[in-house]
Amino acid sequence: MKDNNGVRYTLNLRDTYMNNNVVIIGTQWGDEGKGKIVDWLTSYAKAVVRFQGGHNAGHTLVVDGKKTILRLIPSGILHENVICYIANGVVVSPEALLEEIAELEKHGISFCGRLHLSYAAPIILPSHVALDQAREHVLGIHKIGTTGRGIGPTYEDKVARRGLRLVDLLDINTLTEKVTTLVNYHNFLLEHYYQVKPIALKDILSTAMEWSQQLSPLITDVSHCVRTHQDKNEPVLFEGAQGSLLDIDHGTYPYVTSSSTTISSVFSGVGIGPSQVDTVLGIMKAYTTRVGSGPFPSELHDETAEYLAKQGHEFGSNTKRLRRCGWLDIVFIKKAIQLNSISCFCLTKLDVLDGLSHINLVIDYQIKSMLSLDMEEPIYDILPGWESNTAGIRDWAALPLNTKSYIEKIESLIGVPITMISTGPDRADLIIRKNPFQS
Ligand code: IMP
Repeated sequence: MKDNNGVRYTLNLRDTYMNNNVVIIGTQWGDEGKGKIVDWLTSYAKAVVRFQGGHNAGHTLVVDGKKTILRLIPSGILHENVICYIANGVVVSPEALLEEIAELEKHGISFCGRLHLSYAAPIILPSHVALDQAREHVLGIHKIGTTGRGIGPTYEDKVARRGLRLVDLLDINTLTEKVTTLVNYHNFLLEHYYQVKPIALKDILSTAMEWSQQLSPLITDVSHCVRTHQDKNEPVLFEGAQGSLLDIDHGTYPYVTSSSTTISSVFSGVGIGPSQVDTVLGIMKAYTTRVGSGPFPSELHDETAEYLAKQGHEFGSNTKRLRRCGWLDIVFIKKAIQLNSISCFCLTKLDVLDGLSHINLVIDYQIKSMLSLDMEEPIYDILPGWESNTAGIRDWAALPLNTKSYIEKIESLIGVPITMISTGPDRADLIIRKNPFQS
């Protein structure tokens, strides 16, 4: 096989690669284009591991012009020699997972021995989904804008130590009682607090038995499996979902997701230690988007916003919601670097900026406080745009001069190298200055 610069690489991984453990982290509000980069890097990996979030994530991949949307299963599943893991930090909707498996099987993807689920991953029940939606409804104009997939209520139950985990599907003698206790609790909240219709327990019980039958063979100790790959010096890719600004602790609370989206969740969400990570690759879109509510200081409300949304196809691959668009915010990127110890960056969707007369970068704020982002006035650096197309360019030298200056300006402001640049939706539309798996 050859990479984009024509360099021959082999899958004799032990000899070729030094940085065997690469973590991919989104550094904005999600939707940075991680899916494509994970997919590309998977060619170099033996295993891909998801470690947080759930089917609130949505990765659109374009391979040979064919679109595939993955929500829960690592995109590594499209590469037949790669083993995929869903680790304990991920909340798993068995319903969504089985649907996704069926969909991929229809496209000829084989799962045989290639997908493993952690016994400790929390289960999303239909009653979690109902609670998520009921809460959003009650919040009205103050709603978070969740994906409505039951993610938040499931993480709450995990922390409250009343949730179900995949391991509970292995013992059908106790499953009925466990599901009944939890769903009765959810139904009490739905009926008496949110005053909406309860969920039929009978239906959940019979589906839970089906889940048990179908998923039990996939349930294992993922932490141990990952350790085994690492002991054999096999390259492992850890695939983050959402972005650092949606982190439950460090994001724009309360307009965040319910998991930790930063580097710490790799350790707790898989069961590995810090010395088992070699490279942290941050994914940064060339502009910023967010879905759902919450502050967004560099948000645009003019024709440039419309241009970015249109050129960048900025509507959710998962929920189909239109994304809010704005300029790249260097202050937030610097924060993401600090939170995640980012070693290098991939800049994505560069081609979306083609044709703009000027490009703004947020380099600072008038009031420096994280207390109320809504009140902060961004300070911009205004750079010239470029007339020519960057779409599909795969070679640094072929980029327009102003594009190179834009990228170099970002690098000088953040102090971390941009080693990969994505110039289009196709897997091959990439400029590789350095492969994060190679030292
Ligand atoms: P939840 O994760 O469904 O609870 O939603 C909480 C917030 O995170 C909402 O603003 C969602 O729009 C946002 N969110 C969750 N997953 C993603 C994602 O994959 N990309 C972008 N935003 C997301």
